[in-house]
Amino acid sequence: MKVLGIETSCDETAAAVVADGRVLLSQVIASQVAVHARFGGVVPEVASRRHAQMVTEVIAQALAEARVDWQDLDGIAVTCGPGLLGALLVGLSAAKGLALATGLPLVGVHHIASHVAAAFLGTELAPPLLALVVSGGHTELLDVTAPFHFRRLGGTLDDAAGEAYDKVARLLGLAYPGGPKVDAQAAGGNPAAYAWPRSLYGEGFDFSFSGLKTAVANELARARQRGEAVSVADVCASFQQAVVDVLVDKAARAVQATGRSTLVVAGGVAANRGLRQALAERAAADGFQVVFPPPALCTDNAAMVAAAGCRLLASGRCDGLALNAHATLTLADWQGIAEMPSIR
Ligand code: KG4
Ligand code: ZN
Repeated sequence: MKVLGIETSCDETAAAVVADGRVLLSQVIASQVAVHARFGGVVPEVASRRHAQMVTEVIAQALAEARVDWQDLDGIAVTCGPGLLGALLVGLSAAKGLALATGLPLVGVHHIASHVAAAFLGTELAPPLLALVVSGGHTELLDVTAPFHFRRLGGTLDDAAGEAYDKVARLLGLAYPGGPKVDAQAAGGNPAAYAWPRSLYGEGFDFSFSGLKTAVANELARARQRGEAVSVADVCASFQQAVVDVLVDKAARAVQATGRSTLVVAGGVAANRGLRQALAERAAADGFQVVFPPPALCTDNAAMVAAAGCRLLASGRCDGLALNAHATLTLADWQGIAEMPSIR
């Protein structure tokens, strides 16, 4: 089974072809980072326009690189939410037009579910398992009880982990997106230089990162007032250590509480070297398996959408041309259940 995936939920116009949910045949990403960098973040209307300019070409390139034609495909998968509504609608409209023209089945994929599916590319995995999705828009700890069935353990009460990275990077004058730059700086700094808060450490499965971001902002303002120089590397290393400590604590306790033996870590922040190393060490110590998608499949891409689409179509899920995009789509709504069961 070969599926074309299309992703336009934020600032990457992406298309990919995946076979049998596991084999990546092609993946094309037209990044808008340079377009948004001068604004310090993603400008929604600018993102939509850029997607509209790029989407047809990106899809054509993904098919060409996979050496497949429309008649070789078995379906089309597209991100249908959550995300920027205008941006989502560009990918969705392209997918619906192509589905109508080719007669291929169309399936809408929830963005968080697709991030988790990135881990299935190249790795033999089967639920039940735990998933920690850490990105610019989400910090979610989920018990995946069966394929595409999620039980929410907790999530962020304020900023997402990636958002905190981007805000701290901005305070330090590092260009958007700041996560990779803070990660690189952290490698050369002292993680114990500043003792910043680890909010909700050891308590439940919710997260809070706004206090940490404020602590960094206050420290930088104090140093500026006193005319003291700060080591960017030390600030980055100390901030990253605080984020990583919390993520590792919650994930490891969730493994214990649920008895699951596998933890998938996905989303842009899963590319973070400090997090990958700390979780690998904790997993080895506690005796569970931790799976990270390759860094290039952690940030937004269409391979994860196609991978999820393959599995959804194979299980009989198919959306008609009435499929719509929803900026705030919840996993429960996408799963078609009244409310996602949660545990405390
Ligand atoms: O998954 P993603 O591409 O988009 C969303 O769904 O939000 O995640 C983007 C986020 C950004 O906040 C970016 O700064 C962060 O992931 N990120 C990182 C790293 N690479 C990307 N954060 C920390 N360390 C990294 N290496
Ligand atoms: Zn994402």
